[in-house]
Amino acid sequence: MTSPGAGYLLPPAPIETLDAYLATETGGLGLQRAQALGPAETIAEITRSGLRGRGGAGFPTGRKWQTIASSEGGRHYVVANGAEGEPATFKDRALMRANPYQLVEGLVIAAFAVGADEVFIALKARFEREIDRVTTAVAEMQQAGICADCRVTVVPGPDEYLFGEEKALLEAVEGKPPLPRLLPPYEHGLFASDVVTGWEPTAGVASANPTLVNNIETLSSVPPILARGADWHRSMGTAESPGHVVATVVGDVVAPDVGEIELGTPLGTVIDIVGSGLHGDRTVKAVMSGVANPVVRDLAIPVSYEGFAAAGSGMGAVGFFVLDDRACMVEAAHVMSRFLYVESCGQCPPCKLGSGELTDRLARIEAGVADRGDVDAIGHWLERVTDGNRCYLAVQERLVVSSVLGAFAEEVDQHLALGRCPRPRPEPLDLPKLDDLAGGVAVYDERQRRKQPDWTYA
Ligand SMILES: Cc1cc2nc3c(=O)[nH]c(=O)nc-3n(C[C@H](O)[C@H](O)[C@H](O)COP(=O)(O)O)c2cc1C
Ligand code: SF4
Repeated sequence: MTSPGAGYLLPPAPIETLDAYLATETGGLGLQRAQALGPAETIAEITRSGLRGRGGAGFPTGRKWQTIASSEGGRHYVVANGAEGEPATFKDRALMRANPYQLVEGLVIAAFAVGADEVFIALKARFEREIDRVTTAVAEMQQAGICADCRVTVVPGPDEYLFGEEKALLEAVEGKPPLPRLLPPYEHGLFASDVVTGWEPTAGVASANPTLVNNIETLSSVPPILARGADWHRSMGTAESPGHVVATVVGDVVAPDVGEIELGTPLGTVIDIVGSGLHGDRTVKAVMSGVANPVVRDLAIPVSYEGFAAAGSGMGAVGFFVLDDRACMVEAAHVMSRFLYVESCGQCPPCKLGSGELTDRLARIEAGVADRGDVDAIGHWLERVTDGNRCYLAVQERLVVSSVLGAFAEEVDQHLALGRCPRPRPEPLDLPKLDDLAGGVAVYDERQRRKQPDWTYA
């Protein structure tokens, strides 16, 4: 376990200038090593290091780079995914605030490795501080000749959750609404000119423009790995989850925060060290890793890809929403379901309609006006919500709602029997979509509660 702030991702204090970055132990050395190795060996080194994508799915980074590097058809692009829309997650913004230079160095290495001559950094327009930090870092590195020829564009994007979904991200970078396209970025990349019918992939066609999409933290992890070597990275964490991650801990904890941890650290320890534990004699009732994975209750679960998978869940972007023993889990399911319903784009009717039905039925149970017919309807829609889904959001709806109702079935029964919530809290539960997180204080986006299913605000 690394204490928050000490590690190779989050420096103890923000790095304010390029000179200060180059004066750190590894600043600039990753790119030098990549240039010495050449693209193929750089990819091989990242593959050997076992680095996995930190955007949520944990896809092996080296394998993704290899796919893009070896794909033919037009130009190659790299897009850094800084949308950071996952509730309970703030690590990408923390990294950009603390050390944007390491991110830009990682981006330049990625572009070199996959043969891209243009890169984009996609951030929400409202992340003004991070846009400023990253833009300044790019300009300093260009002036210093570290990436004299690199074409880097910072793209300010919309606030929608789907902006972070990689197929929607490319649409947004092209200036369109964030509606997931049909094919993944390696098959239908940025500015690919072919009309995509969905009947055949465009891979291999001259205009497919295979595009690498990596999360901010993934790219920030790359320079130290190249500077110090794959074995160094593998000496930390576990065999299947080497290295460190930046965890976010919010909810019913003393001091919500982000902190760098070694993979494999038990969940309870992460909550204690990053979030400063729970208040008084409160106990943990449930932990949600964002809104993308089944709920977990066991604090001994190692925070690793395989640790969460063995528990029937996923660690996602390592952002944990902690609910203590006072929580109403029907309310929790309703709040998360409503978020996914509102954010669903509606291109696949079962996703929008199903998540809307699930949200309405959960609201009825929570309010104490439901009957068994509502519970049956929930079962019906959980089976259908993913029908014909273009992206993973519909799966998230199914996983989150079914896991909470499965793990806390007795709470549903209590609501039905009592005709009211058995554990009302003075304040309604807020979805932890983070606007800011600093000094032990989490600021949630108050606008989210007013957001309507058509993406307008009440
Ligand atoms: C609904 C939805 C929202 C997502 N939001 C983000 C996001 O905000 N940031 C991010 O890096 N990945 C997000 N992802 C995952 C991306 O689609 C993609 O897997 C990731 O950027 C790949 O980078 P990686 O391999 O470095 O993890 C989201 C996925 C889905 C389905
Ligand atoms: S699954 Fe849902 S969010 Fe994803 S594209 Fe279809 S309607 Fe939109």
